[in-house]
Amino acid sequence: MLCFPKAKINLGLQVLRKRPDGYHDIETVMVPVSLHDSLEVTETAPRTDIRMYGTDLFVPVEQNLVYKAWKLLADRHKIKPVVFHLAKCIPAGAGMGGGSSDAAAALVLLNNFFRLELPNDVLKNHAAEIGSDCAFFIDSKPALAKGRGEILKTIELDLSAYTIAIVKPLKLSDGQTGVSTPVAYSLVKPDAERIPVSEVISLPVSDWRNKLINDFEKPISERYPEIAEIIAKLYSAGAVYAAMSGSGSACYGLFETKNPALDFSRDFFVHIAKIQ
Ligand code: C5P
Repeated sequence: MLCFPKAKINLGLQVLRKRPDGYHDIETVMVPVSLHDSLEVTETAPRTDIRMYGTDLFVPVEQNLVYKAWKLLADRHKIKPVVFHLAKCIPAGAGMGGGSSDAAAALVLLNNFFRLELPNDVLKNHAAEIGSDCAFFIDSKPALAKGRGEILKTIELDLSAYTIAIVKPLKLSDGQTGVSTPVAYSLVKPDAERIPVSEVISLPVSDWRNKLINDFEKPISERYPEIAEIIAKLYSAGAVYAAMSGSGSACYGLFETKNPALDFSRDFFVHIAKIQ
């Protein structure tokens, strides 16, 4: 049984306040993009294993969010161990939800594989325990996200006219491959007194620049000037709107042209996608 977990991008992201549980209340719009991984579950086995392809990042099986998805269902619904095959295309530490999307896809796959017949809202509750943005990937539809990122409201947002260019430095200037989410949160000063993302998003895309703000973008760009440079380059290539996604380090530009002329060296992951 095979599926294709999609990446997401964030359109605006406000960090509203720190919560007593250590998380932050946020408001953001998440949209799925055509960049995706491939996840297959083939057979039951004496113990759960994840065979990884397309990445040299070593993550112990038990720390992989796909394993956590299996473990959660095994504990609650008594499913057997399985073998997963996971081919990675979504970069890690990118703010594109790659690990969360794989985990949500694992929940959906295992629900079908073992005929558990768990409804979507149960899968979403399970997903929210695995990661704050994980529930979004159960449906993978444009949504306004609040709370930790798990309270979702599907929205109508037709961006099908735009081509999206995703650009991520393969290595940041300090040698890291991506940005750690807790570190990114520690750099932001929460502010709940602004025009909500839900209002700004209803403006025409051509008005989003300087209005639809991702709170992580400024502090992360201060630490890594290459992020600001990518966004400036996307605008000079003709992007109608460009921003960093989530806690970074992937950035994206929305283009009206099909094939934007981009000039990034081999030190960058560059992917032309559609918003789905
Ligand atoms: O939920 P997730 O595992 O993605 O969160 C990783 C870390 O990011 C959390 O432990 C927390 O430090 C931070 N976080 C946060 N507020 C959120 C989401 C994540 O502070 N809404």
